[in-house]
Amino acid sequence: MYTALYRKWRPMTFDDVVSQPHITATLSRQVADGKTAHAYLFTGSRGTGKTTCARILAKAINCLNPQGGKPCLECEICRAADAGTLSDIVEIDAASNTGVDDIRELRDSAIYTPELCRYKVYIIDEVHMLSNAAFNALLKIMEEPPEHIKFILATTEVHKVPATIISRCQRFDFRRIREEDIVERLLYIAENEKIDLKPDGAELIARLSDGAMRDALSLLDQCVACSEHIDAEAVSAAAGVAGRDYLFDILSFSAEGDAAGAILKIDELYSKSKDMSRLCDELLIQLRNLMLIKTVPDKPKLMSCLEGEAERLKEIAEKLSLGDILSKLGILRDCAEALPRAVSKRTELEMAVIKLCAAKGAGGADISALERRIDRLEREIEELKRGETAFRPKKQTTEPPPRPVYNPPEPETREEQPPKSDDPSPQRCAEWESILDRLTAENPGCAGALQGSEAYVKGENLLILVKNEFFLGLFKRPENAASLKKAAFEVTGINYSLRAKCVKGGEPESRGGKSAVDELIEKAKSADIPVDVE
Ligand SMILES: Nc1ncnc2c1ncn2[C@@H]1O[C@H](COP(=O)(O)OP(=O)(O)OP(=O)(O)O)[C@@H](O)[C@H]1O
Ligand SMILES: [Mg+2]
Ligand SMILES: [Zn+2]
Repeated sequence: MYTALYRKWRPMTFDDVVSQPHITATLSRQVADGKTAHAYLFTGSRGTGKTTCARILAKAINCLNPQGGKPCLECEICRAADAGTLSDIVEIDAASNTGVDDIRELRDSAIYTPELCRYKVYIIDEVHMLSNAAFNALLKIMEEPPEHIKFILATTEVHKVPATIISRCQRFDFRRIREEDIVERLLYIAENEKIDLKPDGAELIARLSDGAMRDALSLLDQCVACSEHIDAEAVSAAAGVAGRDYLFDILSFSAEGDAAGAILKIDELYSKSKDMSRLCDELLIQLRNLMLIKTVPDKPKLMSCLEGEAERLKEIAEKLSLGDILSKLGILRDCAEALPRAVSKRTELEMAVIKLCAAKGAGGADISALERRIDRLEREIEELKRGETAFRPKKQTTEPPPRPVYNPPEPETREEQPPKSDDPSPQRCAEWESILDRLTAENPGCAGALQGSEAYVKGENLLILVKNEFFLGLFKRPENAASLKKAAFEVTGINYSLRAKCVKGGEPESRGGKSAVDELIEKAKSADIPVDVE
């Protein structure tokens, strides 16, 4: 049976753990001096050696014949531990749903002394996944741990671990593994496995694995399956990075604010069964590259991409400020967090991508304008989807459409001005977006309150349908009305009389699947002004 390289080459002793010298040296010194702690917390990004070091430490503490704080690997304890048959070293995977039960059992069995070993060692992996009940149970034991018990907790997400637990642990932060160290380890393993790995292949693997040794070894496995001689070209083919233009396409669209383009790309990938979480991760990596281009352009080695891709990234970076990139990173990071829980991963990612297309930097200084844009983009996409059946021949899934991200403020006052004339039925104002853009510069508050609004022209009247009544309050103030009027004049050359009306709620669904706005518009088109809206 084939064992994955990363399992087969899991370091058995501290000497084989690379890139974490501060940790392995301290731990072996503690073992040698007999000064180990009751509880350890290993944190840091994935595939950097947390579980590995936890197992080595558990062995070292109990080894019958430790060598300078390192396990001998030969005594019966070391051998049983490596074979996974030692009952005194207990691994609990908190991510599995037996987590709580395991912790309860742990509490009950903690009073018993170990069978063969000096210490009973509990390794609790992914500890951040424990439920509150389990954390409480764990805390009870950690508060007064019996002499014969040690804990090693491991997590990638230390911020989700209660402070009460953290404070009872000695904490070690695992670093991402340096590229040089990954290269060296890859070449070492390849030599032993008789794999023809070329240095440029090893370098590219290291680059693509973003500091995670497990990823590096898995990628090497993939390469072995694809070709005999593993050079950079073979790696890029095996890693599927040869044709990942879609990432750069999506980022370009987002830099240009082209939400429709980006959404179409996502849907294309979705229909090709692309995993949405993976796509989100890939976009994050490329956004990080963009950030690096802006901040440390003279250190291209920090970037995790191929040579040819760097050029494309530079082009995209030129269209963005660092602030833009940071806010985009924030949006995608939130999305990555939300994805595992999302009912529809595609919708979640689509929402994020729409926000990406709207995200301009400046530390969110002009949130209202931003939200207004998002709202507008969302509508664009809805429209696009409605007319887009030809694009996606597959039958529509049952996923709900993206929810609006904006909650309109509580209504304050409302106002309606009398109609000015009796011209033919109102037409949609084609320049409304431009008017709002103009207004944003002039009067951002007012423009923000107009997010989600639509406008219709009837003669020299501009009829504005707003979703939130807040705007009506603003509109009462002459200076606000004047700035809107001015913006409209600057864009259209017409000195409009303004009328504003409120459409309740702003919720997209309503009776018969028709939106409230649609109904209202129909009314507005067929009927003579005034249109009564409530
Ligand atoms: N520092 C390291 N030195 C050598 N090999 C490593 C190192 N870190 C990880 N590896 C390799 O990666 C594999 C996975 O490592 P490990 O399980 O210790 O990672 P982890 O930090 O616990 O990751 P996760 O957070 O995903 O659980 C190991 O089996 C080993 O092959
Ligand atoms: Mg682990
Ligand atoms: Zn031993």
